[in-house]
Amino acid sequence: MQKLLVTGGAGFIGSNFVHYALANTDSSITVLDKLTYAGNLASLQGLPEDRFTFVQGDICDNGLVDTLVQETDVVVHYAAESHNDNSLHDPRPFLDTNIIGTYTLIEAARKHGKRFHHISTDEVYGDLELDDPERFTESTPYNPSSPYSSTKAGSDLLVRAWVRSFGLQATISNCSNNYGPYQHVEKFIPRQITNVIDGIRPKLYGAGENVRDWIHANDHSSAVLTIIEKGEIGQTYLIGADGEKNNKEVVELILKHMGQPADAYDQVIDRPGHDLRYAIDSSRLRTELGWEPKFSNFDQGIEATIAWYRENEAWWRPQKAETEAKYKVQGQ
Ligand code: NAD
Ligand code: DAU
Repeated sequence: MQKLLVTGGAGFIGSNFVHYALANTDSSITVLDKLTYAGNLASLQGLPEDRFTFVQGDICDNGLVDTLVQETDVVVHYAAESHNDNSLHDPRPFLDTNIIGTYTLIEAARKHGKRFHHISTDEVYGDLELDDPERFTESTPYNPSSPYSSTKAGSDLLVRAWVRSFGLQATISNCSNNYGPYQHVEKFIPRQITNVIDGIRPKLYGAGENVRDWIHANDHSSAVLTIIEKGEIGQTYLIGADGEKNNKEVVELILKHMGQPADAYDQVIDRPGHDLRYAIDSSRLRTELGWEPKFSNFDQGIEATIAWYRENEAWWRPQKAETEAKYKVQGQ
């Protein structure tokens, strides 16, 4: 039985991975999570007690990280400050957690000779024109736009350097935009769903032409598990499910499934430096490791996600007023 240390396991994607890995392997999992505003223990309910342990703590805490990494077989590193809009207003926590936190973890993994998987984002590659026939591949040059994506890019480069200089046994994955249950209401899709539930019109940044490449969080989890089990050390894998949609299309789909007119949204101030388009070519992961996404019907995925937010108001309600108050100050 393998022991996994999952950082950021109380967040949106980390908690999805914890549920997925416990259901699909016989591993035991320790989650290390600081429980920032984005962490929620309610996302980790119903797990087998004999195979799951939760530790509240900071990935920048050397002593704690050293002890936990020593006791584990594989470190799966999700913990991050993850929201672009927050990074534009207060970048410092992004530097601390995404850069220093990753440094602290890879130093411990190097010292104890542990396998390390680093979770990253397609945003490290910057953005594409709407009509560009190319998509991001593992060899696309790094060109991040925001404080968030530049700290993620920095963390990827640290991992790559530790592989080359110190022989760290690491893999990296860069995934596109995730959706599904348990996502914080600051993010685009849950914000609009919970706005409609509250009788507030969805808020579209600018003209809504920006394109994101959507993937269900369960497909991200299955891809990460595949890379941990079969990935080549030192390699980077892009994760995507061919889910390109512009933001206006997504808002219209949410409105349709929630019984609202297609134009019942507001256009608000655009995000500074707003990346235009992300698109992932995940051929390496599919051909070399045999991974395939299962949730390819975005329409049905959105319908199920809307149903989840309707049925789980107790999970998101405590975050909603504070989140909207913050957006209001920003004119968004
Ligand atoms: P999230 O904001 O929902 O969760 C982040 C988690 O990390 C929270 O539980 C938080 O408490 C924890 N955390 C933050 N700082 C910490 C610290 N210093 N020490 C310990 N724990 C800390 O984020 P998410 O959307 O689940 O993203 C998880 C990872 O996946 C991130 O690395 C992100 O860059 C990456 N990613 C996200 C997406 C996406 O669409 N959401 C896509 C690609 C990659
Ligand atoms: O591509 C992967 C990235 O996807 C991850 O690395 C990030 O952690 C994750 O947050 C996400 O980043 P985005 O900035 O793309 O996601 P967000 O949900 O914030 O916004 C998605 C799009 O919707 C983006 O073009 C901005 C727009 N938007 C967002 C909000 C919150 C709106 O139009 N209105 C909104 O209210």
